Amino acid sequence: MERFEVERFRRDFAYLDEGGVGRKILYLDNAATTQKPKPVIEALKNYYSYENANPHRGAHYLGIRATQLYEAARDRVGRFLNSASCEEIIFVRNATEGLNLIATSYALRHLKAGDEILISVMEHHSNLVTWQFVAQKTGAVLNYVYLDEGLNLDMEDFRRKLGPKTKLLSITGASNVIATRPDLAELVREAKKVGAVTVIDAAQLIPHQRLDVQELGCDFAVFSGHKIYAPMGIGVLYAKREVLEKMSPYQYGGDMIEYVYEQEATFAPVPARFEAGTQNVGGAAALHRAIDYVEEVGLEEICRHEKELANYACRRLKELGFVDIYRSASEDCSPLVAFNVRDVHSHDVSSILDTYGIAIRTGHHCTMPLHKYLGLNATCRASFALYNTLEEVDLFVEKLKEVRRVMGYGT
Ligand code: ALA
Repeated sequence: MERFEVERFRRDFAYLDEGGVGRKILYLDNAATTQKPKPVIEALKNYYSYENANPHRGAHYLGIRATQLYEAARDRVGRFLNSASCEEIIFVRNATEGLNLIATSYALRHLKAGDEILISVMEHHSNLVTWQFVAQKTGAVLNYVYLDEGLNLDMEDFRRKLGPKTKLLSITGASNVIATRPDLAELVREAKKVGAVTVIDAAQLIPHQRLDVQELGCDFAVFSGHKIYAPMGIGVLYAKREVLEKMSPYQYGGDMIEYVYEQEATFAPVPARFEAGTQNVGGAAALHRAIDYVEEVGLEEICRHEKELANYACRRLKELGFVDIYRSASEDCSPLVAFNVRDVHSHDVSSILDTYGIAIRTGHHCTMPLHKYLGLNATCRASFALYNTLEEVDLFVEKLKEVRRVMGYGT
């Protein structure tokens, strides 16, 4: 196997290459958002410098160019996800908006009192509060699948909770805290047997594992561009065409209509029906470039490198003897590790690490029910991306010893 040339790829990231903010930062908050490589920033700059116009409207060179860029990005995302058609790709702001679109345009219309929605206790709030809203509006019941001892999804509990009343299963592809990757193929297969619609929250999965929506057979999948090296403000909703055709518009306005009369309107075919208003062409073009970038580096190679980093970090953290780790026991999990330093509040850990230029995330990570389930208020989280190195892990672990010392516990 060829060595992953991390030093070469690091040069693509200004903050690493130039110490962008005046000091070197060891960035381990990649599950919150990744840094952006220069080709992606270039694509955004190029669009706004030379290609900017309103898409689908102007019959002039720039208008046509913007439309081409936007539709080329849709096609690229469709190929990345292996959707049956690029018309199954809807551009949204982020995974959260994708989930809200499903909730509003599909679930509110098709669910009724007594139906059941099934999610897991490790969901991010975006894939949890959204379903609380649907349950409250429709009278549907929101059920949870819990975890086993190894912090993996309890498949017996899943089978117990799945039944003829389950109309919708919405599940994360990878937990943003405990790194668990549920067996999506099995979940989708079982959910289909009872006729439930399946939603994959792929926000944490997409930078770290290939997602083939046709092979998986899910009805919906969502992700945010900014977690896969693209800018904020552009995300993707994948939906099977047959399901999209049954859905009402999400927002109303320009570019989503067919004919408009004084008292009523008819709507454009999919995907335009779900993309009201001026779209984020620059973001879509930059997402296109980000996907190309990831494929050029090699998604499979990135995954192997990140896995090595995360496993190494876990090993080193365990050796410290004063760190509690909360992570799936499975070999196949996401490249992040949640932990607490014994006797030290997670916010103190983060603040002290920050004085050494080390960025991690702390708090409940938008997963309050998961933290409650684990009996925790807050955790620290280190999460890895393609540009992190084993030397960075060593430095991070060394500085955790300083955290204990500063807080008066020695080492
Ligand atoms: N969902 C993002 C995270 O886990 C913000 O940090």
